[in-house]
Amino acid sequence: MLEIVNLTKAYPIGPFGREKFYAVDNVSFKIEDQEIVSLIGESGSGKTTIGKLILRLIKPTSGKIFYNAFDISSFKNLKEYYRHVQGVFQDPFSSYNPIFKVDRVFEMVREEFYPDVKRSSWQERLQKVIEDIGLNPKEVLGKFPHQLSGGQLQRLLIARALLMETKFLVADEIISMLDASTRIDVLNTLIKLKEKGLSVLFITHDLSLGYYTSDKTIILYRGSIMEHGETEKVFNNPLHPYTKMLLESVPTLHKKWEKSSIALEGKNVPKGYCKFYDRCPLGDTNCKNVELREVENGHFVACTKV
Ligand SMILES: Nc1ncnc2c1ncn2[C@@H]1O[C@H](COP(=O)(O)OP(=O)(O)OP(=O)(O)O)[C@@H](O)[C@H]1O
Ligand SMILES: [Mg+2]
Repeated sequence: MLEIVNLTKAYPIGPFGREKFYAVDNVSFKIEDQEIVSLIGESGSGKTTIGKLILRLIKPTSGKIFYNAFDISSFKNLKEYYRHVQGVFQDPFSSYNPIFKVDRVFEMVREEFYPDVKRSSWQERLQKVIEDIGLNPKEVLGKFPHQLSGGQLQRLLIARALLMETKFLVADEIISMLDASTRIDVLNTLIKLKEKGLSVLFITHDLSLGYYTSDKTIILYRGSIMEHGETEKVFNNPLHPYTKMLLESVPTLHKKWEKSSIALEGKNVPKGYCKFYDRCPLGDTNCKNVELREVENGHFVACTKV
């Protein structure tokens, strides 16, 4: 369904922009039909940048993205692309104008994408998608944003995406502003939609949310993939030292939170070395030109020590 090949996004930095900062560095992965893939990484690792590249909000420095085998940079008609590929972001409130009722966001979809659809059949379609995402249309339509909860607003944004023939959703930290019980509702909504045919790139920095939701997991570190594979394999048999460190630092109820002995910032990596080199307990001079390797069926790791 969606394939990313050697995708790179570099920003100019330094005096006169002569140096480059690689927000996304040679990333490749695939997302199949009806698959939820989690993209997990700490702040600044390039998750949103990948989401924006998929949504064509920014252009890649190099590399390609294919949607159903079509190179998305060759799509002349972006409207057609956005009928199928949509994004939902962290802060639901910012997507609504507080002076308009929430219905306005749906009306805008109709005006933009389906001006010829009759109002009555549009209304029917709207009711159906709102029911599909687990809300009662009577309780949410006709309300102003401040009259609804964050979870309801977020689910309405998912409904908006589904009003189009959305097949692929970029969900960027969509539940980080919601309380715990609403989070599960929104996650379950995504899982239900997947069963009906949706594919999702689920961006999060929260490992447990990724584990709960996704079929596959990608561990991103400073713009590069460290580990990638079926979620069960990555979580139950983490192989990259970075993934291990991430999983060990998840606080559990019965374990005391202990400070990691590994430095938090990675800034001293010589050119060509693994980006985790300076934080890695196993780092040595062999950690050069590391590529993702399939170490067991469906489980890829970028580490020379594995
Ligand atoms: N327009 C830009 N110009 C320069 N650098 C940028 C730009 N946009 C993003 N970056 C840098 O790219 C890196 C990746 O940013 P990105 O927003 O993709 O991170 P993220 O993984 O989504 O982080 P978070 O979890 O905090 O949302 C960051 O270091 C950021 O500062
Ligand atoms: Mg982000």
